[in-house]
Amino acid sequence: MANKFNAKRWWRATKRYIGWRLRNPLAPYENYYVDVVMRKVRGSGHPAIGPNARPVREQSELLDFLIRFGLKPTDVVVDYGCGSLRLGESVINYLEPGKYWGVDITHEFYELGLQGIDPALIGAKQPKLGVINAETLAKVRADKPRLVASWHVCSKVPEARLDSYIGNIVSLLGAGSTAIIHFPETAERRQLSGLAWASPRALLEKLARQHAPKAEISFQPLVEGEADGIRQTLLVIRT
Ligand SMILES: C[S@@+](CC[C@H](N)C(=O)[O-])C[C@H]1O[C@@H](n2cnc3c(N)ncnc32)[C@H](O)[C@@H]1O
Repeated sequence: MANKFNAKRWWRATKRYIGWRLRNPLAPYENYYVDVVMRKVRGSGHPAIGPNARPVREQSELLDFLIRFGLKPTDVVVDYGCGSLRLGESVINYLEPGKYWGVDITHEFYELGLQGIDPALIGAKQPKLGVINAETLAKVRADKPRLVASWHVCSKVPEARLDSYIGNIVSLLGAGSTAIIHFPETAERRQLSGLAWASPRALLEKLARQHAPKAEISFQPLVEGEADGIRQTLLVIRT
């Protein structure tokens, strides 16, 4: 991951965003993210979305963490910001049919992911997929998820949208369930690229406490150590 500040790249990304915003004055920021990523998918490819998607570490990384948090095949799991299912596929495979929920800001990303997964696995496991909106969130809630995981997603959310991102995740938790949110952690909020930011844990803790005042909130490393002042951290919210 290139994390050093690069003024030329920053200016290119800023110009691209201003141009898009002028053409789309009322659209939500998430549409910008989808536009930029889909352009990359159709062009030279994107490392996390579409046919070129590869895990940063292991394909089973998300599943391994969920198992550490007590996941059983009978549990309902939400992959919040599932993208092209590059980490979700192992979770789908592990769970009993109908227990996996993958949600994202667009159907385009998970539909690209489905194209790369054995149809027999999809047929057998019947994963549930949906675009994040009030109706989908209500359906997910009705399935009483025990674990809600959000991997490589928090970093893609601009500060003004973090409140609704954390609020949506907390809204899926019932008694005894846990949310695990991966984020790149820095001492101050820092822009990493045109579409990614690192956050101080205090910012996420404050938002989590506002939405879940009675929850147990903690942090743990996703991997040990830091690079360029950035740690890979998990925010854990237990209700
Ligand atoms: C780098 S991809 C990671 C996808 C998947 N979690 C993985 O690790 O393969 C980031 C994902 O976050 C999603 N995303 C961006 N903003 C979001 C938001 N506000 N709420 C939910 N998902 C979001 C994107 O659509 C995209 O699928």
